[in-house]
Amino acid sequence: MKAWQLHEPGDPWTNLVLADLPSPTPGAGEVLVDVEGTDLNFADVLQCQGQYQVKVPTPFTPGMSTAGTIVAVGPDVDLEPGQRVVGWTVVGNGGFAEQALMGAAGCTVLPDEVASSTAVAMHVTYGTSWFALHHRGRLQPGESVLVLAAAGGVGSSAVQMAKAHGCWVLAAAGGPDKAQVCTELGADIAIDYNNEDLYQRVMEETSGRGVDVIYDPVGGDHFDVARRLLAWEGRLLIVGFASGRIPQAPVNHVLVKNYSLVGVHMGGYREADPSPFRRCYEDIYQLLADGKIDPLIGETIAMDDLPRALKDLAERRTTGRVILEPSR
Ligand SMILES: NC(=O)c1ccc[n+]([C@@H]2O[C@H](COP(=O)([O-])OP(=O)(O)OC[C@H]3O[C@@H](n4cnc5c(N)ncnc54)[C@H](OP(=O)(O)O)[C@@H]3O)[C@@H](O)[C@H]2O)c1
Repeated sequence: MKAWQLHEPGDPWTNLVLADLPSPTPGAGEVLVDVEGTDLNFADVLQCQGQYQVKVPTPFTPGMSTAGTIVAVGPDVDLEPGQRVVGWTVVGNGGFAEQALMGAAGCTVLPDEVASSTAVAMHVTYGTSWFALHHRGRLQPGESVLVLAAAGGVGSSAVQMAKAHGCWVLAAAGGPDKAQVCTELGADIAIDYNNEDLYQRVMEETSGRGVDVIYDPVGGDHFDVARRLLAWEGRLLIVGFASGRIPQAPVNHVLVKNYSLVGVHMGGYREADPSPFRRCYEDIYQLLADGKIDPLIGETIAMDDLPRALKDLAERRTTGRVILEPSR
């Protein structure tokens, strides 16, 4: 089977090599799938560069989450060949390949009517936003929400999840085309923070009050502005650091304005407490069935296009999720 492999840590668009490898054998608690769709995560880029919290010894095949049909199961697994699943891959045998290993415990069996590309476009993105907005952020209908990098993977899902919950959503992204994507996602207010002053605009839109909840996958300079935009008793959801800078917060400001900095690490729940995942995905698939969310797939690519697409993701040229379909 064909699989992209990383032999040296570095930029995946220069260091990934397309290899012909034997099919991996599923161990205890694992399944082998024919990959039907793998989403490109910003964290996949960081992992190849050796900058992600989970370090993987080389050589390895990246691709953190995938969807496909089970072709073999290891011991102690209650799934069967032929079932279509979405979930996390086993570190090292990821989804940027024709076949991948998955942990059975983290698999969701897909309803017939949900395409594998749709499922994998939702798995990390809407899962992250569910944990951020609901489990950690305790979002209430009627609250105001500011989403940063709102045309991106997790950001676009946050816009739709917050709207589906009855919130007033301000979506901010870089450039007029991305602002247009935010409007099409259903945002009430779209802000192009490359060409507009984010602070001024949000304060104008909220009559100086600020917003109840901020969803921040960017960090850096955006975080520095965002924390000043929180309303009294607001929550700043710390989702990621796509800007490359982990920001610092003066805690006297947190105290004086009575706001909360809320850490969000969905992946951490897999080991610490997997119990919320069932409700998370039940909620998300119900929202999908009700037509309240519709994952934004910016591009679907074939195997050969992967390095170029990962570079586009790292350099801010993608919208929504990019999905690799090895059979294309
Ligand atoms: N905490 C969790 O559980 C969790 C789960 C999934 C992802 N994440 C994190 O969330 C972040 C977004 O992940 P994603 O896969 O959905 O990616 P993405 O949002 O589709 O892409 C990253 C976006 O970040 C913005 N950005 C701002 N400054 C940037 C810079 N200097 N370089 C690159 N991008 C920059 C860009 O949007 P604009 O051009 O609009 O600014 C870019 O499109 C990542 O940091 C990821 O690690 C966290």
